[in-house]
Amino acid sequence: MSGAHQVVFDEATIRSRVSELAREIEAVYGDEHRLILVGLLKGSFVFLADLAREIRLPLQVDFMSVSSYGHGTTSSGSVRFEYSGRIPVAGRHVLLVEDIVDSGTTVREVVARLRAQGAESVETCTLLHKRIASGAPQPRFVGFDAPNGFLVGYGLDHAEDFRHLPYIASL
Ligand code: IMP
Ligand code: MG
Repeated sequence: MSGAHQVVFDEATIRSRVSELAREIEAVYGDEHRLILVGLLKGSFVFLADLAREIRLPLQVDFMSVSSYGHGTTSSGSVRFEYSGRIPVAGRHVLLVEDIVDSGTTVREVVARLRAQGAESVETCTLLHKRIASGAPQPRFVGFDAPNGFLVGYGLDHAEDFRHLPYIASL
């Protein structure tokens, strides 16, 4: 990786935390829940791939894609749904998988949408949490508290670069 970038969470640290998260998830859900992991594209793709392989429960995988309006403003942000997935969530237990929670707008809106579609339960698992979101429902499963600054790698991008890095770095 070129330029001034600093590794914040290396591969071994991520791997061990992802397997701890899988154990936390297994403690909440059982076979009977027929869990659906719903990854938010594109940032969650690496995390979801690793997490899904660590969870020792039957599960299904789907994705949603949203883009944010007015991100970075103080106005009440909202998101536009670009792709809402293929598996009907009505009556299902959904675990939303996100790369990073910043303002909390994305997760709040997506959780609201999944509930409106009749999901039996909706919880969130985020790899990173900036802990600035206030007033929003907190994710049930959090990998790491994120340090200040903009993070890239392990799915997270800056202008579509760096998603492929196997570690998380600060720009
Ligand atoms: P929120 O809606 O403000 O919580 O923003 C969450 C979304 O913003 C995430 O899904 C990411 O796509 C993006 N994001 C926020 N912080 C970062 C970062 O440090 N690096 C990369 N993407 C980020
Ligand atoms: Mg994202």
